[in-house]
Amino acid sequence: MLMASMSALAEKVGVSMPTKDLQRWNQDGANMEAQLIEAGYEVDLQFASNDVQTQLSQVENMIANGAEVLVIAAIEGSSLGEALAMAKENEIPVIAYDRLLMESDAVSYYATFDNYKVGTVQGTYVKDALDLENAAGPFNLEITAGDPGDNNAGYFYQGAIDVLKPYIDAGKLVIKSGQIEFTDVATPTWATETAQTRAENILSSFYADGSNVDVWLCSNDSTALGVENALAANYNGTYPIITGQDCDIANTKNMIAGKQSMSVFKDTRTLAAQVVKMVGQILKGEEVDVNDIETYNNNVITVPSFLCEPVFADVNNYKELLVDSGYYTEDQLQ
Ligand code: BGC
Repeated sequence: MLMASMSALAEKVGVSMPTKDLQRWNQDGANMEAQLIEAGYEVDLQFASNDVQTQLSQVENMIANGAEVLVIAAIEGSSLGEALAMAKENEIPVIAYDRLLMESDAVSYYATFDNYKVGTVQGTYVKDALDLENAAGPFNLEITAGDPGDNNAGYFYQGAIDVLKPYIDAGKLVIKSGQIEFTDVATPTWATETAQTRAENILSSFYADGSNVDVWLCSNDSTALGVENALAANYNGTYPIITGQDCDIANTKNMIAGKQSMSVFKDTRTLAAQVVKMVGQILKGEEVDVNDIETYNNNVITVPSFLCEPVFADVNNYKELLVDSGYYTEDQLQ
């Protein structure tokens, strides 16, 4: 009896992650897998090498192999339509993980961090660090944003720009490159190398005259790393304020070394725990915990969402946030 009810519990959950190239998705995948197994589920975890076709076929295979719930962090939010339609046909609930799945009515729930707030935390940091309310400036600002295929990227950008725009309009913040629109500052696939190449071009075209970049607003850590690499090789001025997101190991080390000013910590254990809870509630037919039913429209439906809180991180609090909480060991940050 016990065995029968145990095996009846071992429902299969398909977890599709975008890539192993970026540190956070490895952590997200590992956390999801461990917590789902702990909760008694069977897990089919796949990483898609940032290749949309690979992710599409991985999700289709999960469906063919009997997944009863799908958890998907999309490479490109709009490109999984066929697999999502297949999930719907098979009555398989789909949870969009961290990134919203776009252009589909087959998305049941969305769990993420408050993406707009990530941007406002970054923008507010810049505002306070430069004392933009009182200082006359002008300060030179450059912007590096995320992947246009990732719905989150626009929220990060907009959250930060909404804080900084009044100071740009007032001439306190000057963008020497003139590149401010999201499409001008975006970084396809969030690639470090792409961010680095663009930063190198900006430095050689607009700062070779010896002027300083005072702030480089970067939407996340992989792009911040590209900017930091470009500065190390191509810039002799006063080191800028640089923002980031994720508290990746390389960037946390750079924060400790004074090469990145802040990051935004999104504890992937918290997001995984919330999603595991959602999976359980869905499979047990219980009411699913959500805390936002208005913000995330995917151009077809508004998806009921659970937004976790992003947390400000810098050199003063990283120990408490990252080491004391067991997210990293002290050794990993050496
Ligand atoms: C995530 C960020 C991450 C970025 C690149 C976004 O969707 O929310 O945490 O830095 O993707 O992987």
